[in-house]
Amino acid sequence: MPTDTKEGFATKAIHAGQDPLQWSHCSVVPPLVMSSTYRQDGPAQHRGYEYGRSGNPTRNVLETCLAAIEGGKYGFAFSSGLGATTALAALLDAGDHIVCCDDVYGGTNRYFRTCCSKNNIKITFTDATNIKNVVNSIQPTTKMIWLETPTNPLLKIIDIRAVIEAVRAIRSDIITVVDNSFVTCYFQKPLEMGADFVIYSLSKFMNGHSDVIMGAVITRRDDLEKQLRYIQNALGIVPSPFDCHQVNRSLKTLEVRMEKHMANGLAVAKFLESHPHVEQVFHPLLPSHPQYELAKRQQTGHSGMVTFYINGDSHKFLKALKIFTLAESLGGYESLAELPSVMTHASLTPEARDSLGINDQLIRLSVGLETESDLIADLDQALKASQM
Ligand SMILES: Cc1ncc(COP(=O)(O)O)c(C=O)c1O
Repeated sequence: MPTDTKEGFATKAIHAGQDPLQWSHCSVVPPLVMSSTYRQDGPAQHRGYEYGRSGNPTRNVLETCLAAIEGGKYGFAFSSGLGATTALAALLDAGDHIVCCDDVYGGTNRYFRTCCSKNNIKITFTDATNIKNVVNSIQPTTKMIWLETPTNPLLKIIDIRAVIEAVRAIRSDIITVVDNSFVTCYFQKPLEMGADFVIYSLSKFMNGHSDVIMGAVITRRDDLEKQLRYIQNALGIVPSPFDCHQVNRSLKTLEVRMEKHMANGLAVAKFLESHPHVEQVFHPLLPSHPQYELAKRQQTGHSGMVTFYINGDSHKFLKALKIFTLAESLGGYESLAELPSVMTHASLTPEARDSLGINDQLIRLSVGLETESDLIADLDQALKASQM
């Protein structure tokens, strides 16, 4: 259960679920319990744990901490972000329909289009920055609204509260989901805005060290808790205790990491915006962002994600980078750069990429925790190289 809700974010991240008195040895750092099975007092008489897939103390510690920092009641850890997506989609039945924002992570788009469709779950992608598009996409069979904000890779902002209120005004039984991976609960709290579920790729900022693939779902909904716990066990999409231990440790520094990601990311965005070899920069905290006011209202800050159109050769730029590493993923302490059109968003149809504006000039940066002036100098020399 969540800790005292009046406690600050960092206090919860450091202490929720971590009470040393829950272990007879009182270790301050929760133990890494690798055992896949548990001794029983008698047949079917156990002390809370019976088999590692259905429950694990290290996972339990993490799930409690996740629920507390998100302002939720129940946390569920999964073997990946897409594993968490699979679990939420398993709440639906054949014939149900999902409305999903169009500029969503490529793997989420692929999962809905190619895997859910096999189970006869229908999907409509729409630009959810316009609430009318969401409302007009709702069908009698719609059971889930899936939002990701800021969007990936274009960092568009969806008005979570307004979309959910509009959906609820039509039908109260539609489940609302927000992927919060890009900014984390440190900067954005979708459950407080009315969402039923928050979903994470913990592989990103939440873990922040680029050494774990994991996902999570957090909810306040008592009525869906048992169902999701059943799905977690029955589908078997659970993480390893070691990975849970890593993520639980990483949450202790989430606040300080996110503050530094924000400072570095904003400095990089401002630098790029003033650069002659840059066409356009997307960062929600730049006044030039079309939804700057909404971003300031909805988020208490922004992570290290910056996207821009280069005025030059993107391949030469990416090749010339020395501190930024050319790689997929995001949210780690190290700065990364990538070309979404052929990397993270290659699984979209060419038409979908075209209509979203994901072309070979669009570069996505995940700005890490290195020294700000080094990052800017690296980008500057690579932008010059893009002209040669
Ligand atoms: C916003 C977002 N959601 C979900 C995922 C999927 O997470 P995972 O790679 O942990 O399966 C990703 C992965 O890049 C992502 O960027």
